[in-house]
This record gives sequence, structure tokens and C-alpha cells, in this order.
Amino acid sequence: MTDTVTKTALITGAARGIGLATAKRFLAEGWQVGLLDIDSAELAKAATAIAQPERTLVLSCDVAFPEQLEAAFAAISRRFGRLDALVNNAGVAVFKPLLETTHDEWQRVLAVNLSGPFLATQLAAPLMADTGGGAVVNIASISGLRASTLRVAYGTSKAALIHLTKQQAMELAALGIRANAVAPGPVETAMARAVHSQEIRADYRDAIPLGRYGLEEELAEAIFFLCSDKASYITGQVIAVDGGFDAAGIGLATLRGERRNM
Ligand SMILES: NC(=O)c1ccc[n+]([C@@H]2O[C@H](COP(=O)([O-])OP(=O)(O)OC[C@H]3O[C@@H](n4cnc5c(N)ncnc54)[C@H](O)[C@@H]3O)[C@@H](O)[C@H]2O)c1
Repeated sequence: MTDTVTKTALITGAARGIGLATAKRFLAEGWQVGLLDIDSAELAKAATAIAQPERTLVLSCDVAFPEQLEAAFAAISRRFGRLDALVNNAGVAVFKPLLETTHDEWQRVLAVNLSGPFLATQLAAPLMADTGGGAVVNIASISGLRASTLRVAYGTSKAALIHLTKQQAMELAALGIRANAVAPGPVETAMARAVHSQEIRADYRDAIPLGRYGLEEELAEAIFFLCSDKASYITGQVIAVDGGFDAAGIGLATLRGERRNM
């Protein structure tokens, strides 16, 4: 018997990068997709390029504002009548020394990276529960798994998002909703290509066992898997999609050199 239900995913921060690649992954599997982003112009460009208006809904929204999120979820509900997956991917980074990070920067990073997923999941859960459940995937970071310089706000927000994922998994299981996190290492996004110097790229290649950046599509694959029925017994987990970066810890340059020569 074939399943005639068309599933729906909502992806935040979908105008570009990992979010856009994830939206394309869901569309390729026949899902309907809500693409949400604060950057309306970039979002419109992405939707035009995808060119599947019958299966996409574009939502201009800042995830830090509850009333904007409420309007976005109401629009999803009106248009598709169901929600099966929420990918909390929208995120901002302020990379500054602890002593120079302003209160405003701290609050904005926490509002977007932590409060956004908290609020969006609160709105998603009743919709998902209406059709028997669903899946939430929060996009954290390697910076939430271990500390590093210049990441006092970003890293703290992502570490808190990992714990929020576990809290969500505990309480939403009763509604048939799974919650997991994906922690990317450095990903070959347009932004990374623009801001990472040759020296930084070489350092990453040296420190990452697989010796390269991740691809947006590799992140989208893990995110889609966690939202799919193939992950039906996985909840409350963090999967680092990072080429082994987290497993390697800080390592020693000399020993890494020996590894390269093995
Ligand atoms: N690229 C990496 O190397 C990397 C590594 C670790 C974690 N991540 C995480 O992955 C996620 C996606 O990263 P990316 O590299 O694709 O970033 P990106 O900057 O290319 O895309 C992020 C998208 O989120 C949108 N956005 C930002 N603030 C928003 C808000 N308040 N409301 C709605 N949309 C908003 C942006 O407009 C943008 O389209 C982020 O959460 C990021 O922290 C990325």
C-alpha cells in the first residue's frame, strides 16, 4: 500500500547555506516545505531558483520575535494543514573576545540561536501532535560541544541549544515528537569561503581527521535522516557532522603529523 500523505517540513534560515540545502533535500523526497528567513530578498531569490511554488511556502520572519513566529506557523497551518518536521537552523554568530562582547550582542545571539528554537518548537508541537507526531532538529555547532576563543556568546548559545534539545526530547516524546541536534563542524558555505583565510582553512584541514570542510549537502543528509521515519527510535541525541573534529579533541600537531605519514 502506498502512503498518500504528503509530509510538511518547516526550515528556518532557509534562504541560503545549510538551511537552503536542507530545504532542497526535503523537496527531493517529495515533501512540502516552508522556507523561513529574516532576509526576504535572499529568500525570494532562493524560492525562484527552486521553482516549485505548489510545494513551497516562503515566510519572512525573525525567529527572535514570538508574534512573527506565530504568524508564520499560522500560515503553514493554513497552507499545508500539517507539520511533520521542524528544522531550527537560523543562527547568527558574533565572534569576539569575552571582554569586548556587548550586552546587546550577547542578547541578540541568545535570542536568535536559543529563544528562536524554544519558541518555534512550542508552536510546532501542537501542529505535529494533531497528526500523530513529528521531529524537531536543532542545528547546534561544534562550538556548543567544546569551548574555543571568540565564541562566548555563540558557543554558549549552541551548548544551551543542545541541552534544550534534550529537554524537548523528554517532554515531547509523549506527543510522538522526537527532538535531536546536529552539530556541524566547519561547512563549505558561501560565508565560510568569504571569511576564512587560507591560514584558517589550512588549520582546519590539519585538525579535522577527514581533512576537509563539510558540504552543505552532507549536513542536509543527516538532518533529513533525523526527521525521517528511519530515525524513529532516535531522540535526545546530538550528532556531530564534523569530519571527526569533536572526536579528535585538541590533539597534538606532532601526533597529527605522524598520522598524516601513516
Ligand atoms: N557554516 C558553518 O560552518 C557552521 C558551523 C557550525 C554551525 N553552523 C550553524 O548552522 C546554521 C546555518 O548556518 P549557515 O552556515 O548555513 O549560515 P548562513 O549565515 O549562511 O545562513 C543562516 C540563515 O539564517 C538566517 N537568519 C539569521 N538570523 C535569522 C533570524 N533571526 N530569523 C530568521 N532567519 C535568520 C540568515 O538570513 C541566513 O539565511 C546556523 O545555526 C549556524 O550557527 C554553521
